[in-house]
Amino acid sequence: MQKETPPVVIDTSGVDIHAENARIREHGPVAQVELPNGVRAWSITGYDAGRQALSDHRLSKDGHQHWTAYVHGEVDPSFPLIDWALMDNMNTTYGSAHSRMRALVAKRFTPRRIEAMRPTIDKIVASLLADLAGSSAGTVVDLKARYAYPLAARVIFDVVGIPEAARGTILGDGEAQIDTTKTSEEIAASVERGLMELAAVVEARRQHPADDLMSDLIAAQQEDGSELRDGEIIGNLSFLLGTGTETVTNLVVNSVLALLSHPDQLQLVRSGKASWQDAIEETLRVEAPVAHLPFRFPTEDVQLGGVTMSAGDPVLMNFAAIGRDPAIHGTSAGSFDITRPSKDHLSFGHGAYSCIGKALGRVEAEIAVSALFTRFPDLVLAVPASDIKPQSTFIMNGRDELPVLLATTPAESA
Ligand code: HEM
Repeated sequence: MQKETPPVVIDTSGVDIHAENARIREHGPVAQVELPNGVRAWSITGYDAGRQALSDHRLSKDGHQHWTAYVHGEVDPSFPLIDWALMDNMNTTYGSAHSRMRALVAKRFTPRRIEAMRPTIDKIVASLLADLAGSSAGTVVDLKARYAYPLAARVIFDVVGIPEAARGTILGDGEAQIDTTKTSEEIAASVERGLMELAAVVEARRQHPADDLMSDLIAAQQEDGSELRDGEIIGNLSFLLGTGTETVTNLVVNSVLALLSHPDQLQLVRSGKASWQDAIEETLRVEAPVAHLPFRFPTEDVQLGGVTMSAGDPVLMNFAAIGRDPAIHGTSAGSFDITRPSKDHLSFGHGAYSCIGKALGRVEAEIAVSALFTRFPDLVLAVPASDIKPQSTFIMNGRDELPVLLATTPAESA
């Protein structure tokens, strides 16, 4: 990697990703950053450069093949982000290995199937809201723990086919994996626990197939000679559970927080001048749930945004910065304005690795946010928005908690 002016050193605690991104952007749409262990990487903060990178087949996600430092045995195993490049799942494969796996999974997420899931999502939302309404008046309620997270988890755990009894362990470990303040040993231990639990679940399902994604993958392994390995099945299921839970949770939490801290914008939706979809889309733009995603690796030298990224350099997609690019959103790029005509973002990625669950994520968030504000019209934050801490990660963009007062009137809780 070419050395230039000192790069921005990434704060792994993720305390203020937007301020950090503004500093990275000062160095251009594609700029060097420093990760833990002194590892240098490129961060793509520009919208145009981001689209180009995501459409460029020369940017691989397979660290085993294309991360030069790893191939040469030069990566310190204690580098805490190592798993992001080496995990055994579709998102870290390249070429035909990637498209084969992607096609198998995508069958469960067609627009028709997602639309058919609306009644199930409605039901889960209604039961979570009924549970919230049971809280005594004046109690502070954490909407992340009691609403956003259980919704996102139940939906994706149902799609994959994880039995209730195994959900606790797998969920706990998913949370630990995205915490970029943890050591590589702590992360490895939690990954191991989750994968072992999942392996046991897959073995049991092999004997008793059902109508779920896990059974699809087991059937593909048995039927079409696709040479799907057990490790791949487990790795992909684990990835889907994590990605389907953490992202949707963040989108719901970020949307509710944005609306509660911008009452004028909430009023626009309530008065019919804007829609819930407008609010969700603007949240996706200004508070991308996946903030700064490791890693891509150029398979050859690639020129982008005025720099040359050498073959094998680690590259991060800075989705949080891309949504706020002033080159396309002007000086108000950082403001939450649900009426802005163009809400362009790349928060679901783009191109070969673009999000398979984006329709599902949008539907879940729309149902969850609209139903919440309808059920609890007096909902308010229980503390000032500035006191609500971000998650300790620079990779994801969410909050540890979302404390609110439901302010349920007696008529509503009846
Ligand atoms: C608001 C919700 C969501 C957001 C913001 C989001 C974001 C993203 C992003 C940015 C990527 C691109 C990764 C890359 O470039 O390497 C991605 C990929 C992916 N997402 Fe989502 N996601 C969301 C919901 C979901 C859900 C509910 C699922 C459930 C199935 C899902 C499954 C996937 C999968 C399987 C991929 C990898 C595709 C591949 O490697 O070809 N996502 N997502």
